[in-house]
Amino acid sequence: MKALLLESVKTMPLYKDVEIPRPGEGEVLVKIAAAALNHRDLYIAQGLYPGIVTPVILGSDGAGTVVETGASVSKDLQGMDVLINPNINWGDNPKVQDKKYNILGMPTNGTLAAFVCVKADRLAPKPAHLTFAQAAALPLAGLTAYRALFTKADLKKGEKLLISGIGGGVALIAFQMALALGAEVWVTSGADDKIELAQQLGAKGGTNYKSENWHKALEIKAGGGFDVILDSAGGDGFQYFLDLANPAARIVFYGGTRGSFKVNPQKMFWKQLSMYGSTMGNDSDFNNMLALINQHQIVPFVRDLRPLSEGAAAFADMDEGKQFGKLVLIP
Ligand SMILES: NC(=O)c1ccc[n+]([C@@H]2O[C@H](COP(=O)([O-])OP(=O)(O)OC[C@H]3O[C@@H](n4cnc5c(N)ncnc54)[C@H](OP(=O)(O)O)[C@@H]3O)[C@@H](O)[C@H]2O)c1
Repeated sequence: MKALLLESVKTMPLYKDVEIPRPGEGEVLVKIAAAALNHRDLYIAQGLYPGIVTPVILGSDGAGTVVETGASVSKDLQGMDVLINPNINWGDNPKVQDKKYNILGMPTNGTLAAFVCVKADRLAPKPAHLTFAQAAALPLAGLTAYRALFTKADLKKGEKLLISGIGGGVALIAFQMALALGAEVWVTSGADDKIELAQQLGAKGGTNYKSENWHKALEIKAGGGFDVILDSAGGDGFQYFLDLANPAARIVFYGGTRGSFKVNPQKMFWKQLSMYGSTMGNDSDFNNMLALINQHQIVPFVRDLRPLSEGAAAFADMDEGKQFGKLVLIP
């Protein structure tokens, strides 16, 4: 089969012929109809991820059809259209993942291939209102967004939410979920056209985080602060979230694209702020996320559909931060 194979770190994955995997005990073989990229795939290729094992087929997100079942798996699953939960070994504690936790697509071979083997309990039915490409855009980003916004920050209808870097894959699906819930959503981006697009899609407004005093401009536009702030950048800009936070606000972050940040303790304790770090989500988060997607018929944004053979170009696009919506590859 064809796959995007990362042979060694600090190289780009290559479109290569590899053996079709066979499903082992408790596993199924899924014929991938569509697979989506995440920043994680790029970080791994760039050598910026812990515990990298090569050679490996990258890719945490995939949707397709079960074509073969391994021992102890019901043959009834064959022919089922599915999306794949990329969590492996979350463990028993809903609050934090086990030491054995890992994510599909390194160290285990992932979805950027014609076929992938996963445990049968990692499958969920493909939402009927989504195409395979739209479904593939959902798992990792949707799960991360759901846990951060709802399980951690407990976002409620009518609350004011700020999402930074709206062009990000997680940020965008978080945006769609929050709008569906009835939150008032504001955004930042490094690109004015992405802010305009977000406004057309239902954001109240936003500012460009590259402009001087963006946080002051945002506070004026928004007529005050925010009840919940969702971020994946960290870095120097993060400190301003403490100014933008309403009393008793929740600030939740799941990434650190721009590096470490400083926090002013006085602002934090005087305003009674809460700060949450969040990673992926447990299987309940995954199921709750899918229920929300089905209930509100949310359709994830797919910015670009390309053949898997053009995977290297999709990785380059992600590196340049061009995306507004997921980059999806078709084997
Ligand atoms: N902990 C977890 O479970 C988890 C899960 C998923 C992702 N992550 C991490 O979260 C980050 C985003 O992941 P992703 O897949 O959504 O990436 P992505 O689709 O590549 O998006 C990255 C986005 O970051 C935004 N950004 C860059 N610099 C920024 C800044 N200074 N301030 C605010 N936003 C900024 C950009 O938004 P604009 O284009 O709008 O400027 C860009 O589109 C990555 O670091 C990733 O590793 C963690």
